[in-house]
Amino acid sequence: MAQDPTLVAASDHWTQNTPAANRPHLGGYVRLPLAMLRRHDAPRWDWYAMYEGSHTPTRVARAEARLSEHEIDDLDLRGYQSLYVRGSDFQGRSALLLQSLEAILGDESIPPSDRFMILARSAAGELDRQFRPSDCGAYFELSQRIGALIANLVGRLRVTPSDIFTIRTESEGGSFGAHALYASAYAVTLADALGMADDNNRRQLAIGALLHDIGERRLPLENFTKSSLSEVERQMIYKHPQIGYEDLLGRDGIEFAQLMMVYQHHEWVDGHGYPVQILREEIHPWARVLAVVDEFDSLTCNRIPQASITLEDTIKHLSASSGSQLDKEAVRCWTSLFRRR
Ligand SMILES: [Fe+2]
Ligand SMILES: [Fe+2]
Repeated sequence: MAQDPTLVAASDHWTQNTPAANRPHLGGYVRLPLAMLRRHDAPRWDWYAMYEGSHTPTRVARAEARLSEHEIDDLDLRGYQSLYVRGSDFQGRSALLLQSLEAILGDESIPPSDRFMILARSAAGELDRQFRPSDCGAYFELSQRIGALIANLVGRLRVTPSDIFTIRTESEGGSFGAHALYASAYAVTLADALGMADDNNRRQLAIGALLHDIGERRLPLENFTKSSLSEVERQMIYKHPQIGYEDLLGRDGIEFAQLMMVYQHHEWVDGHGYPVQILREEIHPWARVLAVVDEFDSLTCNRIPQASITLEDTIKHLSASSGSQLDKEAVRCWTSLFRRR
């Protein structure tokens, strides 16, 4: 099928704007901004570059020996704005990265989209680690911190949905933490575009989106990665908004709008959703915004990788669901953000 030329696809963006060395999808490696090499509070890793014409990455810096400013400038001048770290090395030291996350993200010499990349790479795994069936307290606490960072970076500094999508599609699929983090970032961009978010409520919206599937933690995880479900399993999944709502109700610091994001994000505007099949006007506006980006992220980065579909097909699916499953205005706004201006 021919590609829709008006869509700003991630692959398109990369082909046109970056040298081969900086392109994503290098299996087993995590792409990070070159600027992190300049920061003395960043964890020490072995760093790799993909040189033009090469099929394997070349190590350009060892963990135990920092590159000089001159050597970093040289890589920068040659167009290597991002380098790679082995996935296993990254996981081993991502907790160290989290310790200095606020300082690194406050570094104005790093472009906002690169700062979002650092946030996404480090926070998704930590959200997964705090996703415990027995207790949602640690996850709730972490969501306050990460939500504030997302609101600031994505909202105030205007990281675009296309930037987020590019970073998203080169990460490791649809873990719970990754889905929560990207749904949150997307929700902030959509609410901003709809004129619904401001400096006061953007953080609350980001946190609400990080929490939206928290009820899933008490359900068997394998149910979320099966390609076909029995009726009993399906009914169990339908309970996650209610479970999440009950777990968060009465918790210090939770807002009504956030509770509605958790409880209503699978309601359909035509009354055919779940858990209680309410109609559009009864669904909180933040839950309607979240429903669009939740569906977008689930379709493009499904927990079952084979079930993921292209950006173009996702846009078509969202448009077809507009007015029945999803809010018309929110879908129109969201799809317009992925089209060339
Ligand atoms: Fe959900
Ligand atoms: Fe979700």
